[in-house]
Amino acid sequence: MSITTCIFDAYGTLFDVSAAARQAAAEPEHAAFATHWDKVSADWRNKQLQYTWLRAITHNHTDFWQVTQEALDWSLQASGLENDTDLRRRLLQLYWELSAYPEVPEMLKTLKSQGLNTGILSNGSPDMLDGAVKSAGLSTWLDDVLSVESVGVFKPDSRVYDLVLKRFNCTADEVLFVSSNGWDVAGASGFGFQTVWVNRAAEPVDCLPHGPDHQLKNLTEITKIAGI
Ligand code: 2OP
Repeated sequence: MSITTCIFDAYGTLFDVSAAARQAAAEPEHAAFATHWDKVSADWRNKQLQYTWLRAITHNHTDFWQVTQEALDWSLQASGLENDTDLRRRLLQLYWELSAYPEVPEMLKTLKSQGLNTGILSNGSPDMLDGAVKSAGLSTWLDDVLSVESVGVFKPDSRVYDLVLKRFNCTADEVLFVSSNGWDVAGASGFGFQTVWVNRAAEPVDCLPHGPDHQLKNLTEITKIAGI
């Protein structure tokens, strides 16, 4: 079945989640953070995802902004920075307006110019995603932004992927789903989407029941995989 709809994960796929800590570390008022930013950034992302999975399997949902703050609090404490409230405020502000990877605007513009549906499917809460999409200037090239808040459970629960079929009135095999998260790609593949894993860190494929149909190092060749 040919692809009619290209759906993208947000954080780590369209938006560079390490950009918040990296940018804060480069600011004179947070110079001391320069020796900590990479550990805090990695801990922040890992805890953010761990908390989504644990909340999903224990049926204890809260939105992704709350989880993002709780994960940051753990990460700052793990690096002895829990008392730096100004740094915490700045990191959250930067996370709200994460930059998109450089190839994203042109890639989305090409997909739209060829008549494909485009969208985001993300754990992010609607206001978080609105902030990121607007600050990255991507609104024009996205038909919709779908948040797990519509179903009250995090990925990779199948009810999340089902949001795409309902919104775009398509079958799963018409969807090309793109994510930088191997676990997200595994869930989407198991749901029936055609999938692309954006493997920017050249990691091994996760040992899970389902895997990616395609692997890329960035998003430049998505248009080719979509058949354009
Ligand atoms: C997302 O945006 C968590 O990166 C994942 O849904």
